[in-house]
Amino acid sequence: MRNRMIAGNWKMNKTFSEGVELALGLVEELADGTGSVDVVVCPPAIDLKGVAEVIEQSSAPFALGGQNVYWEESGAYTGETAPGMLEAVGAAYCIIGHSERRSYFGETDEDVNKKAKALLAHGIVPISCCGESLEIRQAGEHVAFVVDQVRKDTEGLEFDDPARYVIAYEPIWAIGTGMNATADDAQEICGAIRATLVEVFGEEKAAGIRILYGGSAKPENVGGYLSMPDVDGALVGGASLKADSFAAMVKSAMA
Ligand code: PGA
Repeated sequence: MRNRMIAGNWKMNKTFSEGVELALGLVEELADGTGSVDVVVCPPAIDLKGVAEVIEQSSAPFALGGQNVYWEESGAYTGETAPGMLEAVGAAYCIIGHSERRSYFGETDEDVNKKAKALLAHGIVPISCCGESLEIRQAGEHVAFVVDQVRKDTEGLEFDDPARYVIAYEPIWAIGTGMNATADDAQEICGAIRATLVEVFGEEKAAGIRILYGGSAKPENVGGYLSMPDVDGALVGGASLKADSFAAMVKSAMA
């Protein structure tokens, strides 16, 4: 009922030509297609157009996503990217609320919620991130913390097709640290997120929303997460920067 999803978050890596090269490498690695797995790559904003051209010219079996968006349509917001700008270059998805945006750039749940609404209005699928710090986990408050984030981030969102909204659970202590959560850790929170989605959107819609795990996900451990009932894929940072490792994760999700 839920197609699996493997999404690559390139973060602030890859110049324009390096981004094109990585996208071309991925086209080659995924030449046999991705089955029912939805694959998304999220390059830096300045690389989007180049990757979009690779996708179009080679009919690539993956979609394009942004890493961030501002909620206004246009205007005096130096350095920001409007949802219509993402749409115009062919971005079908956009990451919002990544913990790096929250901690380094002060993004709040209210901001994340506004960004989701702006994206949905443009037909772009939000990949909305949540996750707790090590401190919160050690205090045993991780489930309550993430549930609260999800409630705030989803407030008043409207979409008919549950495939139009994606959540990524990314424990902050596992991001880029090599200290990945166990599959059971991921299921504990993703199950709680699913239960929250049932409260917010009702049983039927909640059953169709994809929940991804992120945080040191790699080819060797992705299968474990995917075997969990409420984990529908992965948001991948470091391991998405090489075509072969990212493709290996896609193939693992196809199995
Ligand atoms: P990582 O990053 O896979 O490098 O831990 C994941 C993310 O932050 O999206």
